[in-house]
Amino acid sequence: MPTIIDSDRIRALSQELFPELVAIRRYLHAHPELSFEEAETGSYIAGLLRAKGIACTTGWGGHGVVALVEGARPGRVIALRADIDALPIQEATDRPYRSLKDGVMHACGHDAHTASLLGTAFILYDLRERWAGTVKFIFQPGEEKFPGGASLLIAEGVLRDPGPSAIFGQHVLPELDAGKVGFREGMSMASADEIYLTVEGRGGHGAQPHLLVDPVAIAATLVTSLQQLVSRNADPLLPTVLTFGRIWSDGGATNVIPSRVHLEGTLRTLDEDWRQEAHRLLTRMAEGIAAGMGGHCRLEIRKGYPALHNDPSLTRRARASAEAYLGAENVVDIPIRMGAEDFAWYGRELPSCFYRLGTGTPGGPPAAGLHSPAFDIDEDALRTGSGLMARIALDALAGE
Ligand code: NI
Repeated sequence: MPTIIDSDRIRALSQELFPELVAIRRYLHAHPELSFEEAETGSYIAGLLRAKGIACTTGWGGHGVVALVEGARPGRVIALRADIDALPIQEATDRPYRSLKDGVMHACGHDAHTASLLGTAFILYDLRERWAGTVKFIFQPGEEKFPGGASLLIAEGVLRDPGPSAIFGQHVLPELDAGKVGFREGMSMASADEIYLTVEGRGGHGAQPHLLVDPVAIAATLVTSLQQLVSRNADPLLPTVLTFGRIWSDGGATNVIPSRVHLEGTLRTLDEDWRQEAHRLLTRMAEGIAAGMGGHCRLEIRKGYPALHNDPSLTRRARASAEAYLGAENVVDIPIRMGAEDFAWYGRELPSCFYRLGTGTPGGPPAAGLHSPAFDIDEDALRTGSGLMARIALDALAGE
């Protein structure tokens, strides 16, 4: 069935809804909740959906909300997902809608994702007599915190009854202007594993290192030597990042060698086989180096989100929808990002497409980055975000 809803109609609806979406986004921004603590956010979303007549179920993965909108006739099922959680960051803006909660902030745009997906739900509900199939709207908690709300929702059956044949998600991108979107086929974002090292030595007087085993010296060697994993073991054509962001000792002083040093870091890459091999090599190297220096090293690797893979043909079609809806000049290719995103879990289950929504102000100063205390969006993006996702959904439902 070819799509019979023209883009002008969708644009008009997203324009009409715009003030409401801005108000929703500002409410969410002012009332952020941390990962897996989104109780008020969940009931706010459910309330807005039900007020429009859209049925939904709550309690997914804690506080997630899943809504279904059915078209006039049965047909394909597709899913659209937004994440709803905020970050432990103290907001440093003076906006009237700034966070009312100390130390909690929507600094990753999940307020915009949520408002935008509500807008898409309202648009598709309004047009429901004119399309066939079912759209499942997933308002997902806990994106920012291990193991990720997506994995919980999948385990709870969010991809069944009815089971979607494709899923789409979007994420704000401050370095891209509002009104524009970005796509990438294939591998797009990294896997992220947490690395915890504990180096054991034998502490004592700082003046007598020859009688001791200095775990600080071992840790310093590890920080530099383990980069060999990236420079010598990783395929040069395969992005790999190893970062140690935290290092400390139990005790120690200018004249005291401690007995134990801890390191914490992240390992990121894009290939599942290499990811496993990197874990093995990292363990072997760390244990071997520490043993060679007379000490011990224990590793704990906590596997995080998998790498995010955008289904090429689904992404090509979504991109074509975006070019038709926004104009080709407003659709760009985006590079691989070494950030991680729990939307990747969905991509392991079904064809998925995760694209980027520009939220910078055209001609404005450079926007503050994601996870920054000064982060904010150009709210015009809500018009693009809500309308384009409706267009992509309708095209996917009507697809060949
Ligand atoms: Ni995010």
